[in-house]
Amino acid sequence: MVFIVNKSLEYSFKFSAWTELIPESEIRRLLKYKVRYYFAGGKPGVLPLEAWAQIIKNVGEEIEKLIRTGRTREVLDLFNYEKTAGWDPLRKVLADRLEKDGVPLPKDEAERIDSVIVTTGSQQALFTIANILIDPGDVVITSAPAYLGMLGPLGIHQANVVCVPTDEHGIIPEYVEKAIEKSLEKFRRLPDFIYVVPDSDNPKGTMMPLKRRKQLYEIAEKHKVLIVEDAAYRDIYFGGEKIPPIKSFDKDNKYVAYLRTTSKEAAVLRVGYCVLPKGKLAEEFIKSKGYQDLCTPVINQVLLKEYYEKWIDKVLPEAVEEYKRRCDAMIESIEQHFPPGLHTRPKGGFFVWYESEKDFNASKFLEDVALKNDVNYTPGPAFYPVESLGYYYNPDKNDIERIKAPRNSMRLGFSLLPAEDIVEGIKLLGRLLHEYLK
Ligand SMILES: Cc1ncc(COP(=O)(O)O)c(C=O)c1O
Repeated sequence: MVFIVNKSLEYSFKFSAWTELIPESEIRRLLKYKVRYYFAGGKPGVLPLEAWAQIIKNVGEEIEKLIRTGRTREVLDLFNYEKTAGWDPLRKVLADRLEKDGVPLPKDEAERIDSVIVTTGSQQALFTIANILIDPGDVVITSAPAYLGMLGPLGIHQANVVCVPTDEHGIIPEYVEKAIEKSLEKFRRLPDFIYVVPDSDNPKGTMMPLKRRKQLYEIAEKHKVLIVEDAAYRDIYFGGEKIPPIKSFDKDNKYVAYLRTTSKEAAVLRVGYCVLPKGKLAEEFIKSKGYQDLCTPVINQVLLKEYYEKWIDKVLPEAVEEYKRRCDAMIESIEQHFPPGLHTRPKGGFFVWYESEKDFNASKFLEDVALKNDVNYTPGPAFYPVESLGYYYNPDKNDIERIKAPRNSMRLGFSLLPAEDIVEGIKLLGRLLHEYLK
């Protein structure tokens, strides 16, 4: 028998269809570039490093003590597989905090702890929700623009994504309801869910007022549609009383999946947590997560339990104050140095959104000019679904049409750099923009 090895076929694996359709996340792509003025991603730049050194030391000493006293079995458990839904002592601490923040949880203690599900980053929760709810051709409603970490998984699962207009207070509930009605006409189905980031949105940095949160909940309840409330930036809040989450209206735990992460308020240990409507949704979610990672690393959950129990309330206020300083510096510099346009005024989170008055291609400007000058940002089009799956609810026509991502916008992250560097970087970017738009 003769074997003919065709060299040219050596690497011609047959990839699944989505790999062609969905590009690499713009944020992941930009993480690879090392630039002096980094405004691209949502990397936390104010972490309580001394607290972390202490937490790791304390946990280490605790482990040593257990080993010395012959309790190696307990130590073995900390470096082992755990329940897919999370390590119970952390789930309990998180349940206590969520309740204080207005999230209704069951009275029964075992049920209360079980209702908090730990994920490997809240990115996993976004992926898993798409994974268990979306078949090709299903519909999801979200904001225009929307967080690309949700848009990617929706594209992978081939959802039709209907984007709804936003203003300086986030998504506009009346248009969400119209988009639901129009989805029924156009796609012959209700959306599987509505995805929103009400607290210091990513990418625009807007804060949804209480009235809109309530309206959105009532729309979801009326149409029996799930809301996925992504509260990644809930704890990075610059002042005043926090607005209750949409989840606070969901007393019977039926219509809101509430997603949180520890990445922004603790450190990037790849731990998220969520409260999902009880019953089959939570069960299928855990089943899917189990096939992805079996469980989230326990030792990270141990460290985070220590942080949430003993440290967060001492160290977070200072970090948030520093983020506010950085945000103020960015806004002031944009106003001073950028060409005419609109920008948001976040009350928290990590991002400012800028739209230039004059049309230009923010993706091309990034490649051709900004990166070469040691500065980056995330171009606005990254926050829109791919054209073949993307739609827009157009209020002027009261209809759903194909999406066309506006090119003239950018998301600027103020979280990583100190205020002085932000001022220098924004000044530089402003000068480059002025020259480019001349
Ligand atoms: C709105 C939003 N949701 C989810 C995530 C994912 O966070 P995690 O680090 O927990 O995966 C991010 C991260 O930037 C985010 O901005």
